[in-house]
Amino acid sequence: MLSFEDDIASRPAWDMQVPGAAGLIPRGGGIAKAAPAALEDAPAYRRIRVEDKRIINGQTDVNQLVPFKYKWAWEKYLAACANHWMPQEINMNRDIALWKDPEGLSPDERLIVKRNLGFFVTADSLAANNIVLGTYRHITAPECRQYLLRQAFEEAIHTHAYQYIVESLGLDEGEIFNAYHEIPCIRDKDEFLIPFIDTLTNPAFRTGTPEADQQLLKSLIVFACIMEGLFFYVGFVQILALGRQNKMTGAAEQYQYILRDESMHCNFGIDLINQIKLENPHLWTPEFRREIAGLIRRGVELEYRYAEDTMPRGVLGLNAAMFKEYLRFIANRRCQQIGLDPLYPGAINPFPWMSEMIDLKKERNFFETRVIEYQVGGTLSWD
Ligand SMILES: [Fe+2]
Ligand SMILES: [Fe+2]
Repeated sequence: MLSFEDDIASRPAWDMQVPGAAGLIPRGGGIAKAAPAALEDAPAYRRIRVEDKRIINGQTDVNQLVPFKYKWAWEKYLAACANHWMPQEINMNRDIALWKDPEGLSPDERLIVKRNLGFFVTADSLAANNIVLGTYRHITAPECRQYLLRQAFEEAIHTHAYQYIVESLGLDEGEIFNAYHEIPCIRDKDEFLIPFIDTLTNPAFRTGTPEADQQLLKSLIVFACIMEGLFFYVGFVQILALGRQNKMTGAAEQYQYILRDESMHCNFGIDLINQIKLENPHLWTPEFRREIAGLIRRGVELEYRYAEDTMPRGVLGLNAAMFKEYLRFIANRRCQQIGLDPLYPGAINPFPWMSEMIDLKKERNFFETRVIEYQVGGTLSWD
């Protein structure tokens, strides 16, 4: 799946930026030299014009960040940088004491923590690979690439955070890191995602035809709306619910920062998807929309199965049935965000506290652990 290096070795350096695109400007940042005999046939050089930039299949130089066309991408990059955090800055002492106390947590609460880490500890590596080895290559707007670079680093921070929790609690690393092979409800979610990641990371994949561009768009929707926008949410609610009961407050604080990041990843992905739709309306066919709706329904089923497996009984005031409603509510929101009709009309949010919980500007020190006062310059909108 990830034999990208082979591809690099077989392609000239100037061909690394826009697979299959022939440019008005010589590829490689305008520094590639045309052979003298071909000069008279070469298109005239001209500086980048905003109106020539495209999210996919663009022919402008990807090395020139400005002039900006997609200001929303640049603003999200700035906001993401303003929200920088690192896992080791969060004190885990209370979590460690609680985990070691035989009476500290119930078996059901311990199961939630272990299943959570079992899913997330590899999920963010999948996300990072998808960005770095897949999505990035196919996006031809440099301001979007700039955000993707920041997002990739945030995925590394998230993997670091989960590893830091596993290490702090002294959990069995083999058990946690192999959960995506060994726990069916986790494996099923990842197996659903893998074909879409494979599409983008396949070295032979090129955009530029309606079929290929639809495949790219489909993978972007699966990644933003189903993986980051749906598959993370049962886990987030569970750990934040523990935090609300003053349990595992260090882990909950880390999840709070991660949720803030992921919310922006999801919103960036949706902006990206909608801009591609705008620039390529021929891709958004009724058949394609039906396929996307089917994938979102499948995502809801898989995440609900995960909820049932992680909560065989009611725990922390939560139960699996509440998550069925919550996932339907979120799925409707994702549909609306990309211009589809809601799949589950009338679904309501059973966890209204989530939107308050994740708003760090309102609820600093929510868990009464040490909060680093980062510069919070960006205005964030929450789902
Ligand atoms: Fe992440
Ligand atoms: Fe993410």
